[in-house]
Amino acid sequence: MMLEYSISPKGETFKLPSQEEYPKEYERLKELADRQRALGREIVVVMGLGFVGAVMAAVVADATDQNGQPTKFVIGMQRPSPRSFWKTPLLNRGIPPVSSEDPEVPLMINRCVNEKKTLTATYTYDALKLADVVIVDVQCDYLKESLGRVCEGRADMVAMEESIEIIAQQISPQTLVLIETTVAPGTTEQIAYPIIKKAFQKRGILSDPVLAHSFERVMPGKNYVASIRDFWRVCSGINEESTHRVVKFLKDVLNTEKFPLSVLDRPIESETAKIIENSFRATLLAFMDEWSLFAERNGVDLIKVINAIKVRPTHSNIIFPGPGIGGYCLPKDGGLGVWAYRHIHGFEDDIFKITPKAIDINDTRALHVAQLTRDALRNMSRPIASADILVLGASYREDVGDTRYSGSELIVRRLTEMGAELRVHDPYVLHWWEFEKQDEYPATSQSLKRFFRGQEKLKDLRIEQDLQKALHGIDALILAVRHRHYLNLNPEEIVKAAGGPIAVIDCFGILDDERIKRYFELGCEVKGLGRGHVKRIKDQVRKKIRNTE
Ligand SMILES: NC(=O)c1ccc[n+]([C@@H]2O[C@H](COP(=O)([O-])OP(=O)(O)OC[C@H]3O[C@@H](n4cnc5c(N)ncnc54)[C@H](O)[C@@H]3O)[C@@H](O)[C@H]2O)c1
Repeated sequence: MMLEYSISPKGETFKLPSQEEYPKEYERLKELADRQRALGREIVVVMGLGFVGAVMAAVVADATDQNGQPTKFVIGMQRPSPRSFWKTPLLNRGIPPVSSEDPEVPLMINRCVNEKKTLTATYTYDALKLADVVIVDVQCDYLKESLGRVCEGRADMVAMEESIEIIAQQISPQTLVLIETTVAPGTTEQIAYPIIKKAFQKRGILSDPVLAHSFERVMPGKNYVASIRDFWRVCSGINEESTHRVVKFLKDVLNTEKFPLSVLDRPIESETAKIIENSFRATLLAFMDEWSLFAERNGVDLIKVINAIKVRPTHSNIIFPGPGIGGYCLPKDGGLGVWAYRHIHGFEDDIFKITPKAIDINDTRALHVAQLTRDALRNMSRPIASADILVLGASYREDVGDTRYSGSELIVRRLTEMGAELRVHDPYVLHWWEFEKQDEYPATSQSLKRFFRGQEKLKDLRIEQDLQKALHGIDALILAVRHRHYLNLNPEEIVKAAGGPIAVIDCFGILDDERIKRYFELGCEVKGLGRGHVKRIKDQVRKKIRNTE
C-alpha cells in the first residue's frame, strides 16, 4: 500500500497531495509565472531538490542584473514520494531541505522565498509547461553488486531516464534542458537526446531539442553556496543554439566574470570531464592506502610524511585518505565511466585498470579500522565481542551532515558483525538513515547491510547528541571524522568520562603526539590509520613508567 505521509528529518509529518490538489497547484504556479514573466524574468524549473538542486535553485533565484533586479523566477520541483515530499512544504516556508554548515544557505533560501519571492517549490510535473529553462538535478546512481568489486555493478539510469521522459512530454520546444547530474559519459547525446526527440515527434514538434550538460562541483560544507556560484564551470550543448543558450544562462546566474566558463565542443566532453575529475581524486586517495599500511607496520607517521611532501608545489594536492572515501560522488563516478564504455559505447575490451582498482581500494579501506580496534582492545586484554565502542563522526567528511557512503558506516557494520556494541556521535547529523531505515535506504535492497551479517539491530542505532553521555562506560573510541568538535578533545576528560582507560583509534591524523603520549600515560591503547609511530611513543611512555617505579 502506498504511504500517504512524508516525514521530515526533524519529525514533522506532511500529508502527500491528493489528485484533487494538482489542478489548483498548477493554477498557483501559472499565476506566479505569468506575473514574473511580465516583470521580464525567465522561468526556471529545477527538477530534484536534493543536495545540489535545492541550493542551485536558490542561487538562480538570487541572481540579479546590473541594476540589482532579479532576472529569474525559480520553481523547485520535487516528486511527491513519501521519502522526499517534505522538502517541498519546507522550502515553501523558506527553510532549506538540506543541512549545511554554510550560513548563507538558510539566509539565501529565506530571502528568495519570503522577501524577493523569486523561489517556490512544487510537486507537480505540470510546472515544466511554464519553463524557459529546466535544470535536471536528479540522481544517477551506480549500483554495486559486491563490496570491493565495482566492475560487477551497473549504472542506475531509472530516475534520469524517467525525468527526461517527463520533461520531454511537458516542455515547450524552445525550453533549454540543462542536465547538471553527473552521468555516464554519452548520456546527454545518446540517451537524453533520443528520448526527447521521440517525444517531440509524437507531439508533432519537428525541431531539435535545446539540450546541454554542465556538471556541478558543489561541496556541501562551509562554502556550499560559493562552490556553486563562485566557482569554475564546464558546459557544452548538443548544437550551436544549445551551447549559446547554456552559456548565456550560466553567465546570468553564476559569477563567470571571476570564474570563467570552459565551453567544450560536445556534451560527452563535459560529462567525461566530471568523471575524470572525480576518478583522479579517488585514485590519489587510493594510492595512499598501501603507504598507509606501510607506515603502520614500519614506525612511520604518514601524517608528518605527507605534510613534509606537500610543501613541494608540484605535490601540494597529496592527501591523507581517512577511513574510506565517502560522499555521493567519488565512490561511484569512475564506475559510471567504466560502465558507459561498454553499455553506451559498445566496447568489449577491458581498458580500465586504475579507475576501478582505486574505487575498490577506497570502498574497503574502512574495514581496516575494525581490525585496528580489535587489535587495540586485544592489547588491553578485552575481547571485541560485546565491547562498547563509540564512533565520533557519521558524515563522510568534516563539518558536514552528509552520511552518504561514509567510512563510518562500514566501520559500524563490520564491528557489529564482529559482535561489538556501537554508539555514534555527530553534531551535524540528526538521523543516520543508512541504519534507521536500512531496509529501504538508500533504496530497497541497496543498503550496505547486504554485505555483512548480524545487522538487524542497527535499525535501533540513534545518533547521540550528548558527547559526555555517549562516552560513559565505553571500551573504545574511534575518531572517524575531522569535525572541528573533535580536534582538541582532552585525553584526561575523555578517560574520566569513559570511566577508565580505553582504546583510541585515530582514523584521520586527529591526535598530535602530545595527546597520543597522554593517552598512553593514562593507561589507554592508541592506534591509527597510517600512524606507525604510536608504537614508539608507547615504548617511551612505558620505559619512563618503568624507570620511575
Ligand atoms: N552531493 C554532492 O556533493 C554532489 C556534488 C557534485 C555533483 N553531484 C551530482 O549531482 C547529482 C544530484 O546529486 P544530489 O546530491 O543532489 O542527489 P540527491 O539524491 O540529494 O537529490 C536528487 C533529488 O532528485 C529527486 N528526484 C528524483 N527523480 C525525480 C523526478 N522524476 N522528479 C523530481 N525530482 C526527482 C529526488 O527525490 C531527490 O530529492 C548527482 O548526479 C550527483 O552525482 C552531487
